[in-house]
Amino acid sequence: MGWCSGLTEKGRSASVYIGTCLTKGWMVVLAGFLLVVLLTTSWSNEYIQSFLTDGFDGGNLVKWHNRHGSEAQGTPITLSCPTTTAQPATCSSQNSMAPSPSPSSIDAKRKFSSVPTPSCPDFFRYIHEDLKPWITTGITKEMVESARQHANVNFRLAIIGGRVYLEQYSRAFQTRDVFTIWGILQLVNRYPGRVPDLEIMFNCDDPPAIKADVFRTTPPPPLFRYCKDGTTLDIVFPDWSFWGWPEVNLKPWEQFLEEIGNESRKLKWKNREPYAYWKGNAGVAWTRGDLLRCNVSNGEEWNARLFSQNWEAEQQNGFRSSNMAKQCTYRYKIYIEGRSWSVSEKYILACNSPMLLVTTPFIDFFTRGLVPGRHYWPIRPDKKCKSIKYAVNWGNRHQREAQKMGRAGSLFTQEELSMENVYDYMLHLLTEYAKLLRYKPTVPEKATEICMESMACSETGLVKDFLLDSMVESTYDFEPCLMPYPFTTEELDAIARKKDKYLREVAVREDGLIP
Ligand SMILES: *[C@@H]1O[C@H](CO)[C@@H](O)[C@H](O)[C@H]1NC(C)=O
Ligand SMILES: *[C@@H]1O[C@H](CO)[C@@H](O)[C@H](O)[C@H]1NC(C)=O
Repeated sequence: MGWCSGLTEKGRSASVYIGTCLTKGWMVVLAGFLLVVLLTTSWSNEYIQSFLTDGFDGGNLVKWHNRHGSEAQGTPITLSCPTTTAQPATCSSQNSMAPSPSPSSIDAKRKFSSVPTPSCPDFFRYIHEDLKPWITTGITKEMVESARQHANVNFRLAIIGGRVYLEQYSRAFQTRDVFTIWGILQLVNRYPGRVPDLEIMFNCDDPPAIKADVFRTTPPPPLFRYCKDGTTLDIVFPDWSFWGWPEVNLKPWEQFLEEIGNESRKLKWKNREPYAYWKGNAGVAWTRGDLLRCNVSNGEEWNARLFSQNWEAEQQNGFRSSNMAKQCTYRYKIYIEGRSWSVSEKYILACNSPMLLVTTPFIDFFTRGLVPGRHYWPIRPDKKCKSIKYAVNWGNRHQREAQKMGRAGSLFTQEELSMENVYDYMLHLLTEYAKLLRYKPTVPEKATEICMESMACSETGLVKDFLLDSMVESTYDFEPCLMPYPFTTEELDAIARKKDKYLREVAVREDGLIP
């Protein structure tokens, strides 16, 4: 089997035809035959089919999600709020997080597992890339503090001896900051004694702010946020919605994944509407308004069914009719950037329907792991309608390949992007970041200690529900996934070249230059 899956990885164009594992001898004969076919009619139909979907057969077999099953339960973590509201919940009470044990005593206790610790997903390798600007200079306190001169900073957060301290400079939009900070508290609880002393500056806005241009000769301020692009040096971190987005009734990611698994099984791919679906707020970006031109209501069939989110009406009924988990009724789902990246991507990807991704310069921490032709189909931003029409026609004509792409995207969300990996990403990122600190972080002068009690006890409604639902319920006494090596320059170049080539070839096809 090892040999066969090796072939799937390397000989992508061949593997599509073969499907099952043949003997080595037959493979060689078949591969030779294919080569002849490819050389003589280089754009033969079969080749097009295989080229377009990367011959992906369900992904590599690493199981990240729930790999220790019920064994993963370590020491239970509980939240105990004061019984009367007159008593404010404080972190100095005995209810707060236990003082963190020293890392060595934890390590001694760490469970021995029969399941080997897997290597982290490939997108973890970009952690090294994101921290590169400081690799030779390290990170000084001055650099950290200078972030506020260059960008809006919502909060400064320090972890000292396993306790978490917060200095809030300004509130973020809705509850982005609350759920982001909550996520960090959960990380500290999940891995007691493991998160090193550090302090970070965090901005919860959409567009990245630290321009590479400005910092050609001096190191940039390290600033954490949710996304970046090729021209910016912000450090990407998982967004708040992994712990919930109450304002739009989006559940914590773990619960969402369970629900969408159920929902997307209800309606088989073949029985879904054979069009590309998008629903969202078109007002936040020009390109979204431009997308609406492709709607069927404009008198031309571009194979798109597009809907504007009516925020006011939706808000009044609690976003019940925009439940992302119930939006798996179309064969194709469009993703398009908002003011920069959009949190919608992981929900769209989770549907078992191929994601048609309108090419965007913005990336977040996990999207760098997505491969065009394997996890999604690229759509040209300047020729959206034509691109969508082509993609849908192609998928409806090559249903097996289209379903494979849909499954690959979903599998990515269930495994690579499991909550286990989200926490491991945070742990590895913060650990690598802390290694670069050239000073010993201390509790910032104006910061106060925060803990689950101080954050959750006084909350009400959906905010409280989501905080409780996304609480880590016990320590995780196994090793996190193994941090992979940095990319070499050659590897990064090869990835970029391959992606470019793919996008170009799809474009050539859409333009009808190749029949
Ligand atoms: C999903 O389905 C399983 C099995 O049918 C069920 O136990 C579970 O409650 C469902 N979860 C959600 C969130 O719908
Ligand atoms: C797109 O077309 C559908 C079908 O005609 C219609 O229901 C929908 O409102 C249209 N969307 C927009 C944004 O106009």
